[in-house]
Amino acid sequence: MALFSKKLNEQSAFSVLPKHLGIIMDGNGRWAKKRALPRSAGHKAGANVFRTISKECERLGIEYVTFYAFSTENWKRPKEEVDALMNLFMDYLLEAKSDMSKAGNSKIKFIGEREGISQQLLSLMDEAERETASHTGTTVYLAVNYGGRQEIVSAVNKLMEQGCKSVTEKDISDAIYTVPECDLIIRPSGEQRLSNFLLWQAAYSEFWYSDVLWPDFTVDDLHSALLDFEKRNRRFGA
Ligand code: FPP
Repeated sequence: MALFSKKLNEQSAFSVLPKHLGIIMDGNGRWAKKRALPRSAGHKAGANVFRTISKECERLGIEYVTFYAFSTENWKRPKEEVDALMNLFMDYLLEAKSDMSKAGNSKIKFIGEREGISQQLLSLMDEAERETASHTGTTVYLAVNYGGRQEIVSAVNKLMEQGCKSVTEKDISDAIYTVPECDLIIRPSGEQRLSNFLLWQAAYSEFWYSDVLWPDFTVDDLHSALLDFEKRNRRFGA
């Protein structure tokens, strides 16, 4: 058992890694409820797990990882919860700003609509993207105010504005956010749905589900998902 854990802790432990991993961070509310805490406490614990898991993705050498942090539908949540989430994004970015080593060698990028997000947060997002642009490790995409349908609709509108009368798959791929095809999507908390996440990029994604709630998700859970991914026989429809 010790040998097995040791092997997983080595960067080269996986014969194949997803080039692009997507993670739906779900279960924060239930985690908080189980402890009679406000939902914001669940999100706070979830934000710490995000820090741990993004660092591990970097250590393992995963090229791209996208975390679903706030969907276009999440605005419907109580203002208090929305504010708590925005503050967590801000805290993370302020922390990264004061000490760029917090981001390691990761490149931070955002996908989603800018409209609706405060100017203060937008400035920090832009700054984090700029400051980490030369980093050569994992690209960590944070999907904030993101919706897969909205992404496709705005891509099509952009193409129409450019005078396109009909569009090809390649046109859409080129016009959406510059996120590569997603190889593996991890969703904890027992839910087995995509929830408008990376709709276009997930056409041939593998899925990995677990009952563990996101604030309880560990590096070992990530390793389990990656071990499972290694065994998948991907045929891409062929
Ligand atoms: C869904 O779980 C989760 C969210 C809507 C927010 C996810 C955001 C974080 C974990 C914070 C990320 C922070 C940074 C700095 C990137 P839920 O609250 O809907 O859970 P439930 O289904 O149990 O109610």
